[in-house]
Amino acid sequence: MFKEFLDLGRHPIANAFLREDGFDTEFFFDLKVCWDGESKLVSIKDFVEPERIFNEDYPYNTSNSFPMVEHFKRTAEMLKKDFNPKTVLEIGSNDGPFITNFDRETSVCVEPCGNFSLKTAHMGYQSYTSFWTTELSEKIKSHHGKMDLIYAANCICHIHDLDDTFNAVKNLLSDDGVFVFEDPSLLRILERGSYDQIYDEHPHIFSVTALNNLLKRNGLTLFRVDNLSVHGGSNRIYAAKGNVGVEQSVADNLTEESIFGINHFQTYEIFAKRVENSKEELLRCLKNLKHNGKKIISIGATAKSTTVFNYCKIDTELIDVITDTTAEKQGKFSPGMHIPILSREDVNILDYDYVYLGAWNFKDVIANKEREFVENGGKFITHVPQVMVFS
Ligand code: TMP
Repeated sequence: MFKEFLDLGRHPIANAFLREDGFDTEFFFDLKVCWDGESKLVSIKDFVEPERIFNEDYPYNTSNSFPMVEHFKRTAEMLKKDFNPKTVLEIGSNDGPFITNFDRETSVCVEPCGNFSLKTAHMGYQSYTSFWTTELSEKIKSHHGKMDLIYAANCICHIHDLDDTFNAVKNLLSDDGVFVFEDPSLLRILERGSYDQIYDEHPHIFSVTALNNLLKRNGLTLFRVDNLSVHGGSNRIYAAKGNVGVEQSVADNLTEESIFGINHFQTYEIFAKRVENSKEELLRCLKNLKHNGKKIISIGATAKSTTVFNYCKIDTELIDVITDTTAEKQGKFSPGMHIPILSREDVNILDYDYVYLGAWNFKDVIANKEREFVENGGKFITHVPQVMVFS
């Protein structure tokens, strides 16, 4: 039984950064969020066709983000030590920052964005340009055999049909293999009010509670959870086939979520009210600053900021420009609100009084890089966990 609790209005594809000639034909959809009282899964009400999102033009290449490259290196080292897999498959391998920590001969990449699967193919990895389905898992099994480790980062929550996804994993996983995946944590989003994790690419936002139910329904056992700080708070989920010892971290997470109220619809209604208040406060803050003649720039042309800017209707009246380190985003405009995006080097940050943190999850990295801005009296604005200005 799905119950709607949040309506964020009309939204574009969050990562579809565009040029001026694309403004007239830009695609929009209704971004509403609901909760399934049975499985406890939180999902977007109207899914966007995945082909619209994950295609040759997908701009988010993970290797561009140094903190994420380091994160995947550490993750790969830990998985080798704990599970010693002989064969590895990554679902949503992007441009390869995780899989390149494993041998080419025994690793397989699955990635629907052709621009990225081509990159891992060029590096010598078996790469399938495809969405993850049971049909594909059959094909891979017949070519490469079963896999000891199936890994996915920020990918499983992108897939609409979770029953097929988990069934495909079960089909390809060796009998004592392990399925490890990490995605943003619903609990952290609810705690921090970070509603900007909600966009077309995240048709589902996972609690450990919902995953425990869904994995069980598909013959997999969730046996370990790691709580991570990446993407503002994520969970790394470990699952296996058959009777595997369930570790204490699972009960700990289920208890923490239950105490917070993950199993009650009222929790989501309270969150929706907090989101509305956040919008009002952010607009009040930005409008006051503009009224006082201040100049505001944003750092990080993130999918998250697409949600915030479109929900709050923040355009160039309030934020002049966004900078981003990703070459593919530079020279384009933000989806929906059409704020220009430049490289950081093309902007004199000292011309600005305030930086809105579009990439608030990299707050410390950005503050560290922008020491001169702060020394000159510059201040940062964020809306997480509440709207605030700080230096
Ligand atoms: P993410 O929050 O989805 O990982 O995206 C972060 C975006 O922010 C990505 O496009 C790169 C950009 N970015 C900067 O522009 N400057 C920075 O210092 C960092 C860390 C990220």
